[in-house]
Amino acid sequence: MEAVLNIEDLNVDFLIQGHEYPAVEHLSLYVNKNETIGIVGESGSGKSLTAKTILGILPRNAISHYQALEYKGQAIDFDNQTSMQNLRGNEISMIFQDPLSSLNPLLKVGKQVEEVLAIHKDYHSEQRRKMVFDLFEQVGFNDPEKIYHSYPHELSGGMRQRVVICMAIIANPGLIIADEPTTALDTTIQKQILDILHHLTKQKGNALMLISHDWGVIANMTDRVYVMYAGRVVETGPTKEVIENPQHAYTQGLLNAIPSLLNKGKKLYSIPFRVPSINEREKGQWPYIKLTQENKDEVEAMFPEVRSWSV
Ligand SMILES: Nc1ncnc2c1ncn2[C@@H]1O[C@H](COP(=O)(O)OP(=O)(O)OP(=O)(O)O)[C@@H](O)[C@H]1O
Ligand SMILES: [Mg+2]
Repeated sequence: MEAVLNIEDLNVDFLIQGHEYPAVEHLSLYVNKNETIGIVGESGSGKSLTAKTILGILPRNAISHYQALEYKGQAIDFDNQTSMQNLRGNEISMIFQDPLSSLNPLLKVGKQVEEVLAIHKDYHSEQRRKMVFDLFEQVGFNDPEKIYHSYPHELSGGMRQRVVICMAIIANPGLIIADEPTTALDTTIQKQILDILHHLTKQKGNALMLISHDWGVIANMTDRVYVMYAGRVVETGPTKEVIENPQHAYTQGLLNAIPSLLNKGKKLYSIPFRVPSINEREKGQWPYIKLTQENKDEVEAMFPEVRSWSV
């Protein structure tokens, strides 16, 4: 099967005061049609940068290089403005953590969703409005007309994120990237929003890339998962298999560090190091962990790469 998205050997470095710091290294991943993949990892592991690379919205001081970066079998051409506009508008959409960042505070939300269609498809205005109303109903708004005429500040966080999902999905893109789409919301709303996203993407056959540090979300939503640590994928596979039988000791560590159910009654495990910030990373020294007498054995067990280092 041809992948909707295919990334081979992606590297992202930051250039800071003439020095290159590695943020993403040798990352390969793909997403098939109708598939939901998860990217999971601690803060600073490179999840958002991976997503930003795909849309060409990396920070200015970031340099990326890769073997392949393809959408539906075609190389993504960042230099071609027309094709990038089409890609960003029609083919790949992104949902960010904070819905307010994607909404214009001065425009009615219905108009904003409708605008996605106005720019990219040739429906007449009545059709567009009907499509917005239909989608608003599908995401659980009882009174689509009222929502249509609301401004962002008149809606709750959960309602706004539903509007943002509508914006991301209405033009029926091939790939939706959701970067921590529900972290800012409380738990019950989180579940509703994720159910909507899951339902709509599966129903329309969109590919979904879901970024999260929450294993519960990953377990419920994704078919396959990529586990990242300090810019690299340490493990990938069908989500169920990775969770039930993790192959990498770091993945096992992450899973053991989940509070509640899995650890009921046991003292909660915590990983004995943090993801190093990028100015602590010396190229070629992945996993970049500061070894101490205390953590040395455990780090060596997780990352045999560090055996060559001296403490
Ligand atoms: N503009 C920037 N300049 C310098 N370093 C950056 C910049 N943007 C990101 N980084 C660094 O790159 C690394 C990866 O960042 P990224 O945002 O991809 O992490 P993440 O996995 O999405 O984390 P989080 O879960 O916190 O969102 C981090 O160490 C981050 O500090
Ligand atoms: Mg992020």
